[in-house]
Amino acid sequence: MDRIYLASWLMPDFKEEDDAVEFFRTFSVCKQVKRATLQASAMGVYSARVNGERVSYVLAPGWTAYEFRVQYQEYDVTHLLRESNTLSLTAAAGWRTPNRFEGNKVFRNYGGPEIKGNEYAVIASLLITYTDGTEELIRTDESWLSRKTKWRYCDIYKGDLYDETYEESVHPVRVIRHPKGLLVPQQGEIIAEQERLKPVSAILTPKGERVLDFGQNLVGYLSFTLTVPKGARLVIDHAEVLDRDGNFYNANYRTADARITYIGDGKEHTWKPEFTFYGFRYIRLTELPESMTVDPAAFTAIVVHSDMERTGYFECSDERINQLYHNIIWGQKGNFLDVPTDCPQRDERLGWTGDAQVFARCAAYNFNTKRFFDKWLTDMALEQRPSGSIPHIIPRLDWASCACGWADAATIVPWQIYLLYGDKELLRKSYTMIKRWIDYMYAQGDAYIGGKHFGDWLSHDAEDPNSCRGGTDSKFIALAFRAYSTSLFLRISEILGIREHHDYREKLDKTKERIRTEYFKDGMVDLATQTAHVLTLKFELCEKDKLQAHADRLADMIRKNGDRLTTGFLGTPYLLHMLTAYGYTELAYTLLFQTKCPSWLYSVERGATTMWERWDGIREDGSFQDVGMNSFNHYAYGAVGDWLYGAVAGIETVEEHPGFEHIRFCPKATVRLNYAKASVKTKYGTVASEWHRENGKTVYTFTAPDGCHATAELGGTVHELEGGIHIFTEDTPSA
Ligand code: BGC
Repeated sequence: MDRIYLASWLMPDFKEEDDAVEFFRTFSVCKQVKRATLQASAMGVYSARVNGERVSYVLAPGWTAYEFRVQYQEYDVTHLLRESNTLSLTAAAGWRTPNRFEGNKVFRNYGGPEIKGNEYAVIASLLITYTDGTEELIRTDESWLSRKTKWRYCDIYKGDLYDETYEESVHPVRVIRHPKGLLVPQQGEIIAEQERLKPVSAILTPKGERVLDFGQNLVGYLSFTLTVPKGARLVIDHAEVLDRDGNFYNANYRTADARITYIGDGKEHTWKPEFTFYGFRYIRLTELPESMTVDPAAFTAIVVHSDMERTGYFECSDERINQLYHNIIWGQKGNFLDVPTDCPQRDERLGWTGDAQVFARCAAYNFNTKRFFDKWLTDMALEQRPSGSIPHIIPRLDWASCACGWADAATIVPWQIYLLYGDKELLRKSYTMIKRWIDYMYAQGDAYIGGKHFGDWLSHDAEDPNSCRGGTDSKFIALAFRAYSTSLFLRISEILGIREHHDYREKLDKTKERIRTEYFKDGMVDLATQTAHVLTLKFELCEKDKLQAHADRLADMIRKNGDRLTTGFLGTPYLLHMLTAYGYTELAYTLLFQTKCPSWLYSVERGATTMWERWDGIREDGSFQDVGMNSFNHYAYGAVGDWLYGAVAGIETVEEHPGFEHIRFCPKATVRLNYAKASVKTKYGTVASEWHRENGKTVYTFTAPDGCHATAELGGTVHELEGGIHIFTEDTPSA
């Protein structure tokens, strides 16, 4: 049995605020140790140390639906034990921090009356096995002590206050009866420190402020080695961007102070946060003791994210597209921190379902996200309301409503993970949740369809320029996504061998019929937005013989809009795919290469190093979009990455043989590029596709792992391929 269940949950014996408290005990070891295994967890986040050496993962135990479960972690600490030892766990509220987002609290009083608000608790066991076969168990209990620490506060949004001069004091602990049944072994990827970046420049801004630029919008924390005079304050603020005058700007963090205050003791220390994280590219030395000069080399930015294996790579001959791809990758790094978040910097950083849904496919090419999403979907199933509705955010806020295109993450995410990794297990595990979600939509009928939705969030076609909900009728979108989710549910049922779903087919047909009755004229969707046409095509809402006509009209609308898109969160992910599928590949490329707003390269040309939340986060005149919602690290529009893999390089999944057991090579070479290449590491081996120009020819090289079957679609011909390397040559069309 896992020994952690024999330990007790501990809280401090005093009222803690936003600080971190250390829980510890000492013990001796008199015999030879064969193995020592620490299991630890917290309601909050913890750092575990054995004899002062930190052994725990970053921000452990991670973020789950704490009401239902909290993960514990296991560490081999054999090499750290000596004769006399100290085992300690320092904890802070972490993701249990009451969030100021819209006045809500992220966390209700999870899991019993004893842990409230921003309080926290720890639990741990250390099993020592001696070489003589005997065992000893050290576990959290009333004999432990607690210590007020130099971390005077550490709050995910507010930041850190660390005081080297603080006189730490020792107190008893309080054993609480928090349920131990909540403890589950680590399910997701651990969070780990991944990269270290040094400042690329030191800037004195027009306002006279000292700013360091790390050259990359990133998520993690600073580390610095400095001697700060005794009692003096070093105050550091974080920002993603500078304003048009070159001044430090972080008003877009809203109420998140994201500030480090460090009080020195006159000695040199190397310091870094342990209980929070920051989204930033720039830091401002807001307060610097007079006697101090700053060497930028004293600062390092440590990038942290979930420890997923990088699987996908893409490159082409256009540096701007490569920068876009880079921004997509960094958007994922910054927002895959145990939970897929909308953004990592402002007073939000939440598991928004809609954002995750649109990006899940691209994310699964870039990195192996199977384990990451498996964990998040487990929390989604736990958080599903008794009615079957899926909260906007997982782990959830206390909101009752659910929205189309957001809640549909319940069907779309498991489906995309299945297509990319070919594993039925996740479909099986998610099946009940999916069915309950589908049943909810039909049971609620118009109360849901006509309810409050986010619509085609942040699209550029809303009549009211201040509306974020886009110009496409939200009832239409709700019906469209109901149809799509129902069709995925039917496919998933079939894959799992569950065939009694005749009535859902009928429901799907009726939903489509209703869409046609209410929103169609002469067989065509009668809504004048690009997204309405994209969704009609992707979800096949019209009769088959009208699909091409919809694509033609979509192309026409784009051209009439000066070759620009207008789509928001829900239309954008499918836009280029639909153009390609219906013969408008060059127009899709025109959108990809477009630099006028709205477009992907617009932000690239303005120096973006991550994806922006809004197409026009920085306007043409250099001013910022509405400060109320303007993140520069939001992965949603990065969904275009799956078109880079799937169409530009041409590595596509095959639904009947998912996980790249069969590979569809279908590159769309364009005269606008001299080469493009991508590779994806799959469970069968690495799949690669490359094309380049050579003496008036386009040369394609496809690599399929042994044992895989592939097709290559070139010039209207489908070639059947087995594992191995295959080279094809075509005449390059003139531009
Ligand atoms: C988030 C989004 C999210 C949206 C809901 C925003 O505040 O940052 O990305 O999906 O709310 O519409």
